[in-house]
Amino acid sequence: MQPYDFGPDRFDLDAPEDREVLRFVLSQALYGEATGVYCGKSLYAARSLEAARFYVRQAHEELNHLELFARIFRSLDMTPAPAHWVIKLLSAHNNYYPLKVLMEHALGEGMVLDIFRDVLMQTLPENDPRGAEIAKKLAVVCKEEESHIAWGEKETKRLLAEHPWLRHPYYGILEIQLLIAPIATRAFAARIAGHRVLRHLPAFVTHVQKRVWAQGQELGFVPAERPGLGYRLFAMAWAAALFVRSQFARSTSTLEKTYMTELGFADVR
Ligand SMILES: [Fe+2]
Ligand SMILES: [Fe+2]
Repeated sequence: MQPYDFGPDRFDLDAPEDREVLRFVLSQALYGEATGVYCGKSLYAARSLEAARFYVRQAHEELNHLELFARIFRSLDMTPAPAHWVIKLLSAHNNYYPLKVLMEHALGEGMVLDIFRDVLMQTLPENDPRGAEIAKKLAVVCKEEESHIAWGEKETKRLLAEHPWLRHPYYGILEIQLLIAPIATRAFAARIAGHRVLRHLPAFVTHVQKRVWAQGQELGFVPAERPGLGYRLFAMAWAAALFVRSQFARSTSTLEKTYMTELGFADVR
């Protein structure tokens, strides 16, 4: 899907109102990157060598992103603000792997990429050396986020093929995330009309919802037509129940039991 087009509308890195909006967006990004350390838990629970390799690489990349955003704050002479509760909720770690790969990687990092690539990279002024420098840093981050999303999508598809019942709670999660995520934009509701970049916000939110919907269809758990309210409530209730259950899921390590076959040796136990 094509990225959302902000046309020629750019932030002014010196205007106090624009700086306040950017500070909010960048503060959410900084918090999200700090939660990258959660993949340490995913490494511990990695079910295969491939998963372990991915989480080692992800840890390295997310920590680099964290420091990179800190440099962006310094280059703009800004200090970060605390994260919005919606961002904290959406980036919480989940020990239950089938929920983790969909919620954190495929959908969560998918929406992160929407903000980095569609919003920040398009709306930073190219004619300001600070804007051009930040865009260069963000291009590196976006490439790596793409690979994190790809991992989430691959694992989501594999799990769906193994456990077809997951399509119901997966669909419920998508509906819930699409309901919750736009709440983070409400801070700007009053200023939408009068600001050249913020006026795009409602259309951008619709664009993200369409993109996530298409992503769910591609992954195989979103039907061609939006189901009726009955099924939506059923799927959301299942998602909520699975989420509650996931809060009691223990993080357990298995690689020490499977390492021989994972390495291509016969298991001699
Ligand atoms: Fe990241
Ligand atoms: Fe990431």
